[in-house]
Amino acid sequence: MTLRLAHVTDIHWQTPPSAADLLSPKRMLGTANLYLRGRRHHFTREVQSALVSHLQDLQPDLVVISGDLTAQALESEFALARRELAPVLDVVPTLVVPGNHDVYAPDAVKSARMQKHFGPWMHHQGPLARLDLGHVTVLGLNPNAPRLVTSHGVVPEVQLDALRDTLAEPDLKGRSVVLVTHYPVVDRRGALYDGWSHGLINAQALVDVLESAPCRPAMVLHGHVHHGYVGTIALSDTEVPTYDPGSSGYAYMPTHRRAAGMNVYTLEADSHSVERFLFEGDRFRPEPGGPYATGR
Ligand SMILES: [Fe+2]
Ligand SMILES: [Fe+2]
Repeated sequence: MTLRLAHVTDIHWQTPPSAADLLSPKRMLGTANLYLRGRRHHFTREVQSALVSHLQDLQPDLVVISGDLTAQALESEFALARRELAPVLDVVPTLVVPGNHDVYAPDAVKSARMQKHFGPWMHHQGPLARLDLGHVTVLGLNPNAPRLVTSHGVVPEVQLDALRDTLAEPDLKGRSVVLVTHYPVVDRRGALYDGWSHGLINAQALVDVLESAPCRPAMVLHGHVHHGYVGTIALSDTEVPTYDPGSSGYAYMPTHRRAAGMNVYTLEADSHSVERFLFEGDRFRPEPGGPYATGR
């Protein structure tokens, strides 16, 4: 009973916006940030392509993408992401949850743009996303909504209720449950990541659901913070590890201690191990010294 799960996040495929796209005030601000302040150079096609090749080489049983496929939720960005990921999506069971950049402006939500391109891999089952494979159940949340200035998230009450109900299902006992959400629940020191500008402002409500759940997740997977880290959600009788591989599309900038990351979890019946891979100039390689040893 072993399953290898590959986790990538925050790939941020980007294309230039059209004049019509810039009618959104949020996107005008975002475009200035990308093109005038240089944020677009934080992510490169070279690394994004190497990531897809690496996933093909790994041949995992399952892929989880924890959001921020795009920069500004443009039609052309989702089309590019879908095209680039095709070699993976076509052959490996994959679950994709949205990130805040995938619902960047109200037009993207109104037109259900992500669902249009990635619907079959979003695995909606009511308010949650859910994918069952072997002894593993992956559950996905969507705390994202367009914001004009901040980039915070809120898990809607209906999703918290659905998660509470799902984690109480008798059938889930004995399965390895993986919870996926774009936003971190805790920071690298274990404190709630619930700040107004960038955080999950009702992170405590999510922790409360986990605290009272008969079946706790084996791990929580997330992104959003582009520098990867491991966190710990401390419950009264156990700890739940959280994993952020770091942006999987990050430009290679070793002098800034910046490199794209991705993780592979080997899930046994009641334990798991972690491998982390970093882009090292030409391809993704195992992180020297073991997962998170380099501090990148
Ligand atoms: Fe991101
Ligand atoms: Fe994000």
